[in-house]
Amino acid sequence: MVTMDEIVALCKRRGFIFQSSEIYGGLNSCWDYGPLGVEMKNNIKRLWWKANVQLRDDVVGLDSSILMNPKVWEASGHLSNFADPMADCKVCKKRWRTDQLQEYKCPECGGELTEARMFNLMFKTFMGPVEDESAVVYLRPETAQGIFVNFVNVQQTMRKKLPFGIAQIGKSFRNEITPGNFIFRTREFEQMEIEYFVKPGTDDYWHRHWIDQRINWYYKLGIRKENLRIREHGKNELAHYAKACVDIEYLFPMGWSELEGIANRTDFDLTQHQKYSGENLSYFDDETKQRYIPYVIEPSAGVDRSLLAFLIDAYEYQQIDKDDFRVVLHLHPAIAPVKAAVFPLLKKEELVKKAREIYNELKYKWIVQYDESGSIGKRYRRQDEIGTPFGITVDYQTLEDETVTIRDRDTMEQVRVHIKEIIPYLEERIEVKF
Ligand code: GAP
Repeated sequence: MVTMDEIVALCKRRGFIFQSSEIYGGLNSCWDYGPLGVEMKNNIKRLWWKANVQLRDDVVGLDSSILMNPKVWEASGHLSNFADPMADCKVCKKRWRTDQLQEYKCPECGGELTEARMFNLMFKTFMGPVEDESAVVYLRPETAQGIFVNFVNVQQTMRKKLPFGIAQIGKSFRNEITPGNFIFRTREFEQMEIEYFVKPGTDDYWHRHWIDQRINWYYKLGIRKENLRIREHGKNELAHYAKACVDIEYLFPMGWSELEGIANRTDFDLTQHQKYSGENLSYFDDETKQRYIPYVIEPSAGVDRSLLAFLIDAYEYQQIDKDDFRVVLHLHPAIAPVKAAVFPLLKKEELVKKAREIYNELKYKWIVQYDESGSIGKRYRRQDEIGTPFGITVDYQTLEDETVTIRDRDTMEQVRVHIKEIIPYLEERIEVKF
């Protein structure tokens, strides 16, 4: 299996992910997505939106603000409950989450730890020019609350009947005590969340529905089945709002770890917001003529963790011949940052002109690259390493019969295709049928 160091090195070398503020020595656990990383991230978000919003009649989208009225966090329980137990090593001064320790001593130097105290994970800041208690606001630690406080707005304006969901993608912030493992646990990250509102009593059914939907999304996008598993939370692990929760775990280099959580949040959040805001957040059921607070099933995924899992799963250091090796990312074409690269076989004017024509047409549809420098073999390898699924080469035969070769990244086999057929050929292989 690939190591995390190999993934970090590839990400830096090929422009996927850089350390944040690197020229100043970086900032702990903060990362910047480079030109290829941002494309890959956008693809993941688009494919999540497509499967969960565009293709479903029962889910609509939302983009709520990161800063919210602080009462939201009082009502949701984050001000009192969103905390981890933390202790400092008296010798090396490192800080640890005590609920993750095997023994109550410093895992690094074996030193004695201070007594554990609760540490709230929300980032605090001030709104406006005066920095006093009345100006305190928080950076959201989950996108979910923006959905709950808009439940009535969305339900009424969209005239939605239960069951229906609201989906949102956006940044969240947590002052994690022990961030690490590259982009696995950071203090600023992006979430893809759905709050799916259902009639109480039907919640177990919908919980199972969403577990199936979400694991199939990863399968469809090429994650190997043996690297994914489902793990149910024990009662002592459940978040303060949850009746049940299932994690989809991925076999990361540091072991099985959470990729996504799918929780049954019951009517906890809407009940709390109704109580704290004084607004009626119940739903009138036309069929039964009853009013009630819906239950909520919440599939909550991390964009950054998904991207990391897709990279790890796709990575291969492959021996091709006795002394010939390549690094190849077997990314699903829909996830790959660059869909195709166009090459003139040689840097000759007539080949360059034709290759550029093809490149200029393809870039209206996808992110594609043009490359004329170095041997054709080297150019293929550069694309293999960033996961570009198709290499299109213009050679002398192209000038005679308007055909090009298309090389498949994984098999390295080439087929001859008419120029007019390039777009349909690629489209068929890039499009995902969820
Ligand atoms: N609204 C529910 C919620 O936020 P969570 O299990 O705390 O639940 C959901 O987070 C997902 O968000 C996780 O499965 C993970 O993919 C991502 N996530 C959470 N904390 C993260 C962090 N510090 N860094 C990167 N991703 C994180």
